[in-house]
Amino acid sequence: MSHADDHAGNRRDFLYYATAGAGVVATGAAVWPLINQMNPSADTRALASIMVDVSGVEVGTQLTVKWRGKPVFIRRRTPNEIEESRAVKLDELVDPNSENENKPGTNADDQNRTLDEAGEWLVMMGVCTHLGCVPLGNAGDFGGWFCPCHGSHYDTSGRIRKGPAPRNLEVPIAAFENETTIKLG
Ligand code: FES
Repeated sequence: MSHADDHAGNRRDFLYYATAGAGVVATGAAVWPLINQMNPSADTRALASIMVDVSGVEVGTQLTVKWRGKPVFIRRRTPNEIEESRAVKLDELVDPNSENENKPGTNADDQNRTLDEAGEWLVMMGVCTHLGCVPLGNAGDFGGWFCPCHGSHYDTSGRIRKGPAPRNLEVPIAAFENETTIKLG
């Protein structure tokens, strides 16, 4: 990912938040100049963050939370799913160099997409990269996610393997805040 792309990404987030904020107050015009003066990276990041309690997420299940108005999948993968994902070579992928906000500059290898070294936790935007439907978990030809809108199959790492979607499911900025809490943003 180039520096320019990175900047564009932040800029998009910033605009998104400014727009979202406009709905909260009575007039969008009033909030825009205010937000515009703030430091986009630090302030929008703080505004955008949420904490998710994942203590109840069992191995082999997925929690879906709403963040920034979109679904986020938090999946706790089984050893099989981890092994399967890690065995896939980059040249088998449709989108081997997908952007990853959490680890900029890396490729779509599974270890670059998971939250922890062991690969148990996978956090992704639950938005199909074709036209934005919400894919179904534990489904599709690759055992990961399946988007029923036009038939896109994602693997157990959320990478597009078959169908019209052009890119892997997006990995957002996320980190463990403590043992049972994931911070998004
Ligand atoms: Fe998912 Fe078209 S929106 S395949």
